[in-house]
Amino acid sequence: MKKSFEAQAQAQAHIQALHAYVPGEQPQGGGWTKLNTNENPYPPSAAVAPAVAAEAAKLQFYPEPTSAALRAAIGESFGLSSAHVIIGNGSDNILDLITRCFAQTPGVGHTVPSYSLYPVVAGMSGQELLEVPFDRSMRLDVAAIASLQARVFFLTNPNAPTGVAFSLKDIEQVLQSIEGLLVVDEAYVDFGGESAFPLLEAYENLIVVRTFSKSYSLAGMRVGYALAAPKIIELLDRVRDAYNLDRIAQAAALAAFQDRTYFEARCAEVIATREKTRAALDAHGWFTYPSSANFLFTEPKNAAGETGPEVAAALFEHLKAQRVLVRYFPGHPLTCAFIRVSIGTEAEMQVFLTAINLWLNHA
Ligand SMILES: Cc1ncc(COP(=O)(O)O)c(C=O)c1O
Repeated sequence: MKKSFEAQAQAQAHIQALHAYVPGEQPQGGGWTKLNTNENPYPPSAAVAPAVAAEAAKLQFYPEPTSAALRAAIGESFGLSSAHVIIGNGSDNILDLITRCFAQTPGVGHTVPSYSLYPVVAGMSGQELLEVPFDRSMRLDVAAIASLQARVFFLTNPNAPTGVAFSLKDIEQVLQSIEGLLVVDEAYVDFGGESAFPLLEAYENLIVVRTFSKSYSLAGMRVGYALAAPKIIELLDRVRDAYNLDRIAQAAALAAFQDRTYFEARCAEVIATREKTRAALDAHGWFTYPSSANFLFTEPKNAAGETGPEVAAALFEHLKAQRVLVRYFPGHPLTCAFIRVSIGTEAEMQVFLTAINLWLNHA
């Protein structure tokens, strides 16, 4: 006889209630212009492939457990010792480590809208989610953040999905006014934001989180890192998987990190394409938030000059039918009239803009 097991009922209560993260669509098959998950359209530095090949010949051996060479290189570039750096299996891994270490009653705070993984990591640790809503201005409400008294507060800078960057002055005010940790998620900072890392010296309650997924073109490799006081890093290391990065990922990230010339050129290219695309959307009379990231958050206007959720949804569907994939967030009043488009190559953005023209001419 088959023995049954009531998995749902037997799971921990907070796991029973958990909604898993929903990643952006990864379409299979060719022919798509993929502008939906903020990947870099350019391949990684040419130094990455030989570094990967060299490690592929050593896969019978465990990797160096702490990613020591990468910690040292990253630390040095910021004028910090390795003791200030931890490497994660993607920055998502680091966001989870921080939550597991430091989240406690009354819970984990974040702004709305921001990165939709924060509620998931809070839920995985059984923590309450505390929200600071934006209004359409997308300005940071420092007093509202302070009043939450969250033990951990996630701030995306530049923010997602808007691309709007917050000033270091705002961030410093938050750091001064809270007792818990401020985690500044700088996934997109290399495309025009201002890093909070200079504040690390004066504020021990700051963690800066970065990723190789966007500006280093290594989303498929899963490498992120955090900068913080050594006593914070030491605690995060306690809950980290012993071998959280495989040897290929460590070598690929180090090779990409050391090729500054390639990195800077690709970031400049993405920024230039972003501004051109923005100008084309402006020419249609659409409202687009000023972006310091590798995407634009724009409020489409149809041929009749109308905006709103139906218009944004209609454009999203039209683009999809043209095999142009962007992101649409229908679930919130501040996002439902917008679409988010990642910045691709010049040619990809032309495909996107041509598809918009078709929509405007035939809607
Ligand atoms: C704000 C933000 N943080 C972190 C990440 C995840 O980065 P990683 O690929 O390093 O896990 C993303 C990915 O889209 C993001 O938008």
